[in-house]
Amino acid sequence: MRKKITVVGAGQVGTTVAQLVAYNNLGNVVITDVVEGLPQGKALDLQQAGCLQVFDSQVTGTNDYKDTANSDIVVITAGIPRKPGQDRADLVATNAKIVKAVTEQVMEHSKNPFIIVVSNPLDAMVYAAKKVSGLPKDRIIGMAGVLDSARFRTFVAMELCCSPVDVDAMVLGGHGDSMVPLPRYTTVSGVPITDLMNEEQIDRLVDRTRKGGAEIVGLLKKGSAFTAPGASVVKMIEAVLRDRQRILPCTAYLDGEYGWKDIFFGVPVKLGSRGIEEIIELKLTPEERTALDQSAKDVQSIIKDVDKILDGE
Ligand code: 2OP
Repeated sequence: MRKKITVVGAGQVGTTVAQLVAYNNLGNVVITDVVEGLPQGKALDLQQAGCLQVFDSQVTGTNDYKDTANSDIVVITAGIPRKPGQDRADLVATNAKIVKAVTEQVMEHSKNPFIIVVSNPLDAMVYAAKKVSGLPKDRIIGMAGVLDSARFRTFVAMELCCSPVDVDAMVLGGHGDSMVPLPRYTTVSGVPITDLMNEEQIDRLVDRTRKGGAEIVGLLKKGSAFTAPGASVVKMIEAVLRDRQRILPCTAYLDGEYGWKDIFFGVPVKLGSRGIEEIIELKLTPEERTALDQSAKDVQSIIKDVDKILDGE
């Protein structure tokens, strides 16, 4: 039985996710959006690439959540993107209401989907989706660390003039300026970058990674990144649908891990058919721990706003 992946939001990220799911034959795709005709048009256009890109996925677009029924995976990209100069946290008031509304509609028609949230401010939006959906903590996740570590990997490869494929990186913490790229756990063919670069180079790449999203928002002027975010989501989908047991940095619910509870936060997780199968606890230096705790505090303060918005409604 082919798997069913629903993409909520027919914007650039959602469309990229739908396209890569279809191109990789990961299952049938339903794109939904509030805008009449938009998901239908995007879906029909993508479907017509099937004979060329050689995929069998059925791609449909809808404005009716009934068509999302019994989804295996739901990707929530709905919400407004940042404008130049804005912080992701500035979106919380608008996007918390949108994520609440779409999560309620998703859960009306799918009993036990694996939900991947992309909407910003990411950590707080995953928290909102979990609170509204009532799903267990292993069935709801945020996409951020795969994207942030992809940026760090890319910048390392550019600095060393090597293939980004040979670079592995770990980025923990919130999906914001206080995220924690870990140079000690970032390697090129197994060699830590701390053996390949000096401190100035590493600090510069860490800083560029932290601001990676804002750099693209500033260049595009309208909208935010979508290709790398979409590709990051599909890496996670593939790990779950193909039970790949991949260890990837993702935003997961912490229940004491890393010393934090009742918070969504970027940590290494093992992804497989059951969703989040394990949270991996890394050994951290005192400096890394301090940076991680600061990032958690930043996330916690935005989550408090979400609680007020969700409870206040
Ligand atoms: C980014 O970092 C949109 O948050 C996303 O590009």
